[in-house]
Amino acid sequence: MTNHADRLVVAAGVDGFGFLVDTRGRLRQAGFGPRIGAHMEGLRGDLPPEAYPLAYPAYDEDPLHAPALRITHGDGRTTTRLLVDDVDVSGSKTVVVLRDRDCPVEVRLCFETGDEGVLRQWVEVTNPQSAAITLHEVASAAPLLVLAEPTLTHHAGSDWSAEWSTTTETLTPGTKVLESRGGVRPHLRCSPFFLLGEGRPAEDGGTVLAGAVAWGGNIRVAFEMDAGAIRVTCGHNPSASDYVLDPGQRFSTPEQVWAWSTEGTGELSRRLHRWIRSAVVRDGGAERPVVANNWEATFFSFDRDRLTGLIDHAADIGAELFLLDDGWFAPEHPRNDDTAGLGDWDVNRVKLPGGLAPVSAHAGARGMRFGLWVEPEMVNPASTTFTAHPEWIVSQPERRPRLVRGQHALDVLRPEVARFVLGVFDRVLTETPGISYLKWDANRHLTEPGSSALAADRQSNFWVDHARATWDLMAEVARRHPEQMLMLCASGGGRFDLGTLRFFHEVWLSDNTDPVDRLHMQWAASHFVPASVVAAHVTRLGNRPVAFGCAVAMSARLGFDIDFAAMSDAERAVCRRAVETYRLVRPLVQQGDLYRLVPPARRAALSYVAPDRSRAVVFAYQLEREPVASGHVVPAGLDPGRTYRVTTTDLSPAALEHWSATGAALVSEGIPWPLCDACTARLWVLDGEDG
Ligand code: DGJ
Repeated sequence: MTNHADRLVVAAGVDGFGFLVDTRGRLRQAGFGPRIGAHMEGLRGDLPPEAYPLAYPAYDEDPLHAPALRITHGDGRTTTRLLVDDVDVSGSKTVVVLRDRDCPVEVRLCFETGDEGVLRQWVEVTNPQSAAITLHEVASAAPLLVLAEPTLTHHAGSDWSAEWSTTTETLTPGTKVLESRGGVRPHLRCSPFFLLGEGRPAEDGGTVLAGAVAWGGNIRVAFEMDAGAIRVTCGHNPSASDYVLDPGQRFSTPEQVWAWSTEGTGELSRRLHRWIRSAVVRDGGAERPVVANNWEATFFSFDRDRLTGLIDHAADIGAELFLLDDGWFAPEHPRNDDTAGLGDWDVNRVKLPGGLAPVSAHAGARGMRFGLWVEPEMVNPASTTFTAHPEWIVSQPERRPRLVRGQHALDVLRPEVARFVLGVFDRVLTETPGISYLKWDANRHLTEPGSSALAADRQSNFWVDHARATWDLMAEVARRHPEQMLMLCASGGGRFDLGTLRFFHEVWLSDNTDPVDRLHMQWAASHFVPASVVAAHVTRLGNRPVAFGCAVAMSARLGFDIDFAAMSDAERAVCRRAVETYRLVRPLVQQGDLYRLVPPARRAALSYVAPDRSRAVVFAYQLEREPVASGHVVPAGLDPGRTYRVTTTDLSPAALEHWSATGAALVSEGIPWPLCDACTARLWVLDGEDG
């Protein structure tokens, strides 16, 4: 790209970005999206380079639009002029090096292509000046899109217990901003995943783009629409986040993940799922166990007998791992509600006289693994940790630190606090043998955002540095304890991004476990993440029939969070059959290809198909009553030439039916819809007869 007439294509598969350099050396975006190579071919000899938009506009380069980059330089100048200095293509990675020749600063636009047509993009800014510079805005990416009827699907404005609330809207001129705040659990209110397409997204047709800011802190995505084009400026939220970058230092933005499809959202999701299993989440190819959690069965109120009783029931229904949630710790400030004990990670021996070992051993004796809840970044004022170290919390001088859920957040930027947090894991795992799973929770956002580890003139670095320091801790826990499965949880689904997921195995989607609401949430999340990472537990919330709750949870990573002792024998038998059936279909649900068949309204249906199409499972749900059962559910993704043995179950005592049909007949005629009563479900397990 030294010759300014050259074009550069950065493509993952057939999709990606096209760039060219204009006669003055500025980087222009000549294409973005599907089939970018062909698009760039078409450009050769077309318009002059100056006719294309700047690829990554710095402040004042495109004065009438929002910048991707805004810097105050060491000499006080507020504008930046970026010229292409170099392009480095090495394997799957491309780096376009931009420099400002008057106010020396290096800006590297980095792209890395991966399998499944996924492209990751981020930006690195280096300060070669002799004084600090301030980064007011540094987007991870800022492509310009031209889409017919641009339609955005997002999950902003959600809240605790309503994560993944979905809005689909046509973009209109002006700027639409999605953003999260609060630093910890930011994705409760705004998920960092979005879809952008031409018209309403369809499962099996149309052009659609998935975007995800891979950042555990505050995110911001702005869609600035003007003259028919949309600039999508995305990355960490620059609000109150001016980053002071010292001489010689480099700032790296979070990664922005892109994937395109011209065949609708179904194909897009399947590709993202495969990529996340192979390249993002830990042990993505490994089978996830059926978890029994005690939280919604007991909340804080349990003792050893209560737990061993739950373990016995959980083992009887076939659960594979018992997870002991909040409330097991803090001898001096017993954790009997959410006002005390956080920060004190010794066992409460009043509740559990022999400690955790007998509980863990009991689970082991019943053939189950044992897992434990921790919330390592937080303290209650009523704790020995806070009493000894009141200065350890996130705070600002002379400001009364506010409590949220009765707790303070620890300032993980302080080295001694980071050591303390890591020590929580080391200690808990050393003191209790047999733990193989940890649920890492975080139940408040940050207020009084400041750190005594940062100088007075670096306090605005807090939001970025705090998120990075938290990632460092997560990475270190994963490194020190590689055998531990980790669940990511923050007041439900408050931390759910592809950057944080690298250190974890699965995510707690929401504290809302009503299966009707969960179905909507799981449906929304399924556009981006595979079912294997979505922990879905059967509970009493919503008072739905247990079989319906089981069927909903079985379409993700099945678990239970229910007082088995308070269930009838018949309900426990339903749970047992759910686990038995789940074991049969688990490889499909956790590793198969998802086909969303009927979007949730009165009904919903989805299926998972083995990659070789030898097996499949179809889930059908009746959410609202209809007068009669009518219509069909039409499976997808089957092998038309194969004959499938179909087994139907509603988790009642016997399988209802067995029959055979060819894939061709199933995908053309469908299966008669058998349900009309609200909160009922049906599963069809399809086994290829030659399989
Ligand atoms: C919030 C989580 O989302 C719940 O599952 C539970 O672990 C509670 N915290 C415990 O305090």
